[in-house]
Amino acid sequence: MCGIIGYIGDADAAGVLLEGLKRLEYRGYDSAGMAVLGRGGLDVRRRVGVLRHLEDEVRRAPLAGTAGIGHTRWATHGQPSEENAHPHRSGDVVVVHNGIIENYLDLKRRLQGEGFAFASETDAEVIAHLLARAMRDGRSLPQAFQAVVGELQGSYAIAGLCEREPDVLVAARSGCPLVAGHGGEASFLASDVTPLLAHTRRVQFLEDGDVAVVTRRGVTVTDADGRPVDRDTVAVDWTTETAEKGGYPHFMLKEIHEQPQAILDTLRGRTVVDDAGRVSFPDVTITPDEFRAAGQIWIVACGTSWHAGLVGKYLFEELLHKPVHVDIGSEFRYRKSMVRKGDIFLALSQSGETADTLDAAREARRLGARVLSVVNVVGSTMARESDGVLYTRCGLEISVASTKAFTGQLVALHLLALHIGRVHGILKERAIREWLDQLRQLPGHVEDVIKRDGELLAVAKRFYQKNNFLYLGRWINYPIALEGALKLKEISYIHAEGYAAGEMKHGPIALVDEDVPVVVLAPQDRLYRKTVSNLMEVKTRKAPVIAFTSEGELDLEDVADCVFRIPDAVPPLLAPVPLTVALQLLAYHIGVLRGIDVDRPRNLAKSVTVE
Ligand code: M6R
Repeated sequence: MCGIIGYIGDADAAGVLLEGLKRLEYRGYDSAGMAVLGRGGLDVRRRVGVLRHLEDEVRRAPLAGTAGIGHTRWATHGQPSEENAHPHRSGDVVVVHNGIIENYLDLKRRLQGEGFAFASETDAEVIAHLLARAMRDGRSLPQAFQAVVGELQGSYAIAGLCEREPDVLVAARSGCPLVAGHGGEASFLASDVTPLLAHTRRVQFLEDGDVAVVTRRGVTVTDADGRPVDRDTVAVDWTTETAEKGGYPHFMLKEIHEQPQAILDTLRGRTVVDDAGRVSFPDVTITPDEFRAAGQIWIVACGTSWHAGLVGKYLFEELLHKPVHVDIGSEFRYRKSMVRKGDIFLALSQSGETADTLDAAREARRLGARVLSVVNVVGSTMARESDGVLYTRCGLEISVASTKAFTGQLVALHLLALHIGRVHGILKERAIREWLDQLRQLPGHVEDVIKRDGELLAVAKRFYQKNNFLYLGRWINYPIALEGALKLKEISYIHAEGYAAGEMKHGPIALVDEDVPVVVLAPQDRLYRKTVSNLMEVKTRKAPVIAFTSEGELDLEDVADCVFRIPDAVPPLLAPVPLTVALQLLAYHIGVLRGIDVDRPRNLAKSVTVE
């Protein structure tokens, strides 16, 4: 996700940038860097790891100057390393970037053809070279920058600086946040409002397509063609803590709301829009032949990631007609392993550091499987040790309860299923194209759920004092019942269990009475009628029923106590995504109503690096 910052004024720029980066460090801590422009020209410093390393470097050898840009990195393209750290420099130009430049490979090839030498593996470096190239013909920094922005596809917030024009910073936004502020004789840029609060409370929230020219006297905003744009100056009265959470009361709620963007980012640049509807995975170094030769597919993960793996099983079996083994990391490790040479082994993990999953992957590799990890944290141990890695691009997840990483994993598994289906010749190009279209509509469906959060809050208010919940789902939504129950357990301390709805009559139905709310997942799919029958079984035993269904299904209104609907347009295999978001919000509200610190639930750690 990355954090960017810019300053131009009369004060020591390095100090302002460092203080600002401290506020933005939650956005990534793979590396940090800054460029300061002083009498001696540009001084660029970059350090791998947490911000403290950059701070130590600046203390050791201070940078002098009153204008600069800074960056804290959450790696997407290229491992965390000094070369890949921002700012990126080309001649007398430096830039910092947050986002993903989707056409960077095309741009890079062109620039290399013109003689530009690349020092990093990042997508961002192309921006520096493009800007240096655009200034060669005498254009000013703002003019050149405008031209460069027109060449970029993807998502970005950018800040840039040039030695030749020391009195101006340039910035642009498309799909990534960027705030500008002015106070006294200084102006500021940042990924969120927190770094600005120590200097000014009057800010402008830039919007997609905005290009800004920032001087000591103020900020001028235009569109990409240079036409002036009026952005209101807003007075912000947030505390620093509120601001870090983007105005949300908790990181968990912020991360739930970030899901449309996280899904979009996980899809971005993966789908080459050609007639073949190709899905491209530059990091997946497992060859089509290896996929074809694989005897078995294994998926191993823990916790929420394991639930994503279970969804993957239904998905792969449905789309690829291939059996898939799914296991919990800690179980896989100590069972007699049936992994064979050449099998494909998928390790799913947000952190890429979960000890049980990591060890399972090592064991599979030892047995000759090709290990492909689906991880969120770039450069994590799992990513480094795998034969191939498919990154979910959900950004930093801070809340202990995993939310956006899970839906990102589901999207990544869909992409992978399309890829494998194509390699095997099971999925035809047209089917792949149609599926990709459906995936692209997911962010909109998730937005739709988030907009109706008030309905989920009302459900939470009705049931938050109950001590036991059951979650029921069938088929691909059975793992979603497990995930809904886990989320509720983690952040409300309510006892909750997820079951395959058809399994109730084999025992768990003995638990049901008027004091046990039952959450039933019944979207429009081929098992809808059967799920409704299961719903009736618990209703008959007086359980309050909270039904999650699709817009078109109207017959639950009279039987369920509460009904929440996801859009009709969501195809059955994608229903787990919006359903999960609704269950996350329900759990969140119940946890908050019960007074739990939902971001830091008791006894849990974000990353479980011990067995
Ligand atoms: O980083 P990982 O995805 O490997 O983590 C696995 C689990 O520890 C994690 O999903 C855990 O269950 C979360 N607290 C769920 O919200």
